[in-house]
Amino acid sequence: MIIRAVPRRRLLQGAASLCFAPSFLRFALAADVPRFALGIASGQPQPSGMVLWTRITGADLPDQIEVTWELARDDAFKQIAARGVETAQAAWAHSVHAEPSGLEPGRRYWYRFTAMGQQSPAGRTATAPAADANASLNFAIASCQRWDAGHFAAWRHMAQEDLDVVMFLGDYIYEYSSRPDVIRRHEGLVANTLDSYRARYATYKSDPALQAAHASAPWLLVWDDHEVDNDYANLQSQTLEVNFEQRRAAAYQAYWEHMPFPKSARPRGADMRITGRLDWGSLARIHLLDDRQYRDPQACPKAGRGGAATVMQKACAELTDPKRTLLGFEQEQWLANGWDSTRPWNLVAQQTLMARYSWRDPSNGDGLYWTDGWDGYSASRNRLLGTVSDKKLKGVVVLGGDVHSNYVADLKANFDDDKSPVVATEFCGTSITSTALPQDRINAARRFNPHVHYGRGDQRGYMRFALDAKQLQVQLRVLDDVMNINSNISTAAQFRVEAARPGAMPV
Ligand SMILES: [Fe+2]
Repeated sequence: MIIRAVPRRRLLQGAASLCFAPSFLRFALAADVPRFALGIASGQPQPSGMVLWTRITGADLPDQIEVTWELARDDAFKQIAARGVETAQAAWAHSVHAEPSGLEPGRRYWYRFTAMGQQSPAGRTATAPAADANASLNFAIASCQRWDAGHFAAWRHMAQEDLDVVMFLGDYIYEYSSRPDVIRRHEGLVANTLDSYRARYATYKSDPALQAAHASAPWLLVWDDHEVDNDYANLQSQTLEVNFEQRRAAAYQAYWEHMPFPKSARPRGADMRITGRLDWGSLARIHLLDDRQYRDPQACPKAGRGGAATVMQKACAELTDPKRTLLGFEQEQWLANGWDSTRPWNLVAQQTLMARYSWRDPSNGDGLYWTDGWDGYSASRNRLLGTVSDKKLKGVVVLGGDVHSNYVADLKANFDDDKSPVVATEFCGTSITSTALPQDRINAARRFNPHVHYGRGDQRGYMRFALDAKQLQVQLRVLDDVMNINSNISTAAQFRVEAARPGAMPV
């Protein structure tokens, strides 16, 4: 429910009825239980609104809780632009997804919640610019924040950046149990039920640095595999477990409950649409893709299993089978029909490395490929990049994560042909914490992949971008030590891309 421009008298009446509701008395003794222990968040910025998120916490919650939200033009909340009341329900983990509307485009706002006699911390958010507005875009990409692999120092630094948008590209949680010797343990065993996924999100969202990053800017989010199960593909799990559809439904529900997605995105059974599109003024169209929910199973798996393998091209004809798809044919078509030739940039926010990365010399069919990424679905990749080439789009930039490494690459219509033109640019960002392959293996394969300009698996952090109509500037922000909660961060490398010419140039 949205209430705009509420007269002060009505607001006070509302507050009074909240305070004296009989249900409130039952919780009077629990006044010291934090009700906003998982922080707040905002996301999905549009020219006229965005989604404001929180989840009410405590072991003693009733089925329904009234939660008031406020959105202000200033950080002191003197100029209220909108306010409303939402009902947090136990059936949806007492999550709140408020959707203010009718706001000014291209503007910063501040928001906070009130429930059960407590007020949340305040967060900063923003609307997107109007579709025809001249705009710039400062944003960052991040992914893969495995709790037990390190501290979230990167988020503390991200919260200090002056960003319009944070794009999170998958692996918000990891479903695994933790070994005893890790720096901080996941609670419980493998997450595979609604309760255990909810508990896992609660663990991650208890982190103050992650909360600060959420409170600093609106986020755009896509998921990858670990929000459900390592290497799952559509309705097939890595271990070919029965009832995987039920597990996926539980995982998707918990994901929606904990992320700033609108009510319209609430999952139905094991389906939730995260695919989406956002225009950022006259500057860029942002496409958000889902590479998990609709994909074909990975090619040539190990016997009796699903999931990824690393296989020789000549031993696995499925790798190049045009009948296989990573995005699902419907989503492929949606993207093919949705490229924007009027704006200088198309940003593709998706999960994993799109550039071909062969682990051996790929001549004579001897290429060696990891089947979970785009290399396992090369016909799907060729269709996508072929459309970019056919439409003569210049400013296509693919953003990714998943491989826990910083890769900067040129994307080509045909990676096996040296003369094939560069059609797009790729920035695949490293993990917040999760560990990668040894650097010497990445180095050893670099010469087989000359379109890759940068490849580092030994860096943790995020990529920061400044986009205007002429160029994209990129900084690879890298922690000194992911195991140090107070780690410093620095810029390991910088690149730029010109809107008129695809391809990454070192700065
Ligand atoms: Fe990951």
